[in-house]
Parts: sequence; structure tokens; C-alpha cells
Amino acid sequence: MRRTDTGRYGEDAFRPEETGEADRIDLGALAYDGATTARLAALGAGPGWHCLDLGAGTGTVARWLLSSAGVSSVLAVDRDTRFLTDRPPGLVVQTADITAPGFDPGFFHLVHARFVLMHLRSWRRMIARLSTLLVPGGVLVLSDAVDLTTATAPATPYTLVMRAMWRALRETIGTDISWVPDYPSLLLEEGLRSVAAEIQVPPLLPGSPVSRFWAETWERTREALLATGQVDAAQLEQARQSLESPDSAALAPGMLTAWGWKPPHPSAV
Ligand SMILES: C[S@@+](CC[C@H](N)C(=O)[O-])C[C@H]1O[C@@H](n2cnc3c(N)ncnc32)[C@H](O)[C@@H]1O
Repeated sequence: MRRTDTGRYGEDAFRPEETGEADRIDLGALAYDGATTARLAALGAGPGWHCLDLGAGTGTVARWLLSSAGVSSVLAVDRDTRFLTDRPPGLVVQTADITAPGFDPGFFHLVHARFVLMHLRSWRRMIARLSTLLVPGGVLVLSDAVDLTTATAPATPYTLVMRAMWRALRETIGTDISWVPDYPSLLLEEGLRSVAAEIQVPPLLPGSPVSRFWAETWERTREALLATGQVDAAQLEQARQSLESPDSAALAPGMLTAWGWKPPHPSAV
């Protein structure tokens, strides 16, 4: 994996053509779909809603919106849509780069993106752009990673590898999670109302989806991880083993979900 200032998600890292990439995305979805769907249900996603799911991945959220929430339609967009093979009625799939100037998908009651903007160098511009895709009374729901302890926790193979991983992702594809806790104020800056946020941190239990997700993610970024010089192969192996150990009590990175409504909305002032 080379270092570059111009790489993008899916090019230098997490290439969709690599065997097992859909399974890796699904492990992340297994870890976080419960929190995402509970929030979308609480926000009222349901019949009559036209929804946009950006960077839809394998489509678990898009399909849940249709099959469980009963929304009227979902436009699922991804730069590579090969994993969106299961297309129930109401699901429209579009292959597009959401950062492209000509990307103009229309207007929606729900605009949702999970674990996407953190990988985009133009994340600030994208928050502003996505806010304009809401119909009046529509809701923008954005989720990205937060890492509450890695930078400050005692140095263990796990924390060293996590630190190296964030650096490697930043250097290869521009991933940046430092701004994610600012989501609520960023949504307010875009004129959204009744803004709120929450964080989910799944436990790193041996064999759990989130533990397997990180083991798989480290494996796929192994070259870039080692190239940081912050960890060596032995520490990487120790960290991998710690994910399988019942004696490990590390805190996983979490998912921050922020949402805000475009006025008018009954609770907006
Ligand atoms: C970490 S995956 C998350 C997938 C899904 N949202 C989920 O949470 O399960 C990031 C997804 O965003 C897509 N993506 C990244 N950059 C994109 C871009 N510029 N335009 C469209 N899709 C993009 C990737 O192809 C990938 O499917």
C-alpha cells in the first residue's frame, strides 16, 4: 500500500475487488446496525419517506429501511455498487462518487451516511452539501467513528496498533476522525434544528462482530500499519491475539451518530 495525498477509499485501502471485503463491511454492519436502526426508527423513518443512503456498502441499512421501517423508497449510492446485489422493491441503486461536483440526487426526507464522511478529505463541504438535500422537515443522520481512549490509554499492543492504524488510514486515504465529535455544532452551522448526538461502543468480546471487524481491518491495512514504524509484526500479532482473549478489556472505537432537522419540524424553533 503506497502513501499518497490523493488516494481515496477503495483505491489504496479497502478495495472492493479484494476477496472478503463485503464480509468485512458486513462485520461492521453487524456491530452497528442495531444502534443505527434503533435511531432511525426513533426519528420516525416510515411510510411516505423517501431516503438517501450514501456510501451504502452492502446495503444493510437501505434494506432495513424498506423491509422493517416501511419507507417508500431508498436511493442507495456508492462509488462501487457491486455489493448491492439484493435489491428489494423500492431500492434504487446508483453508482456515483458523492463528492463529484455533478452529484445531484434530488431531495429526501432522510439523508443518511455511516462511516463514509470520515474517509473523505472534503468532509466539511459534504456536510454542507448533504444538508441541502433535505426536504423541509427532513432529517440528516450522519455516523462516523470516534476513538475515546486510544490516544491516552496505556501503551499496549492493542492501543499501539489502533494509533498506527488511524495514522496509516490518514496517510493512505485521508481518513480523519478528529472532527467527528464536532458533528452537532457542524449540523447547527448548516441551519439544522433539534440537533442531537449519541455514541455506541460495542464491547470487544472474543469472536464478536466488532472484534472480527478490527482484526480484519488490521489485516487489510497491514502493510501501511507497519510502514508507520509505530508497530512491528510481533506487536501486530499480539494485538490480534488480544482481540481473541477473554482477558482483554480494551475499549473499542465507537460510533457517533448525529442528526438534525431541516425546518419546519414540530420540535424545531
Ligand atoms: C466503511 S464503508 C461503510 C458502508 C456502509 N455505510 C455501512 O456502514 O455498512 C464506506 C463505504 O463508502 C463508500 N464510499 C467511499 N467514498 C465514497 C465516495 N466518494 N462516493 C461514494 N461512495 C463512497 C465505499 O465504497 C464504501 O462502500
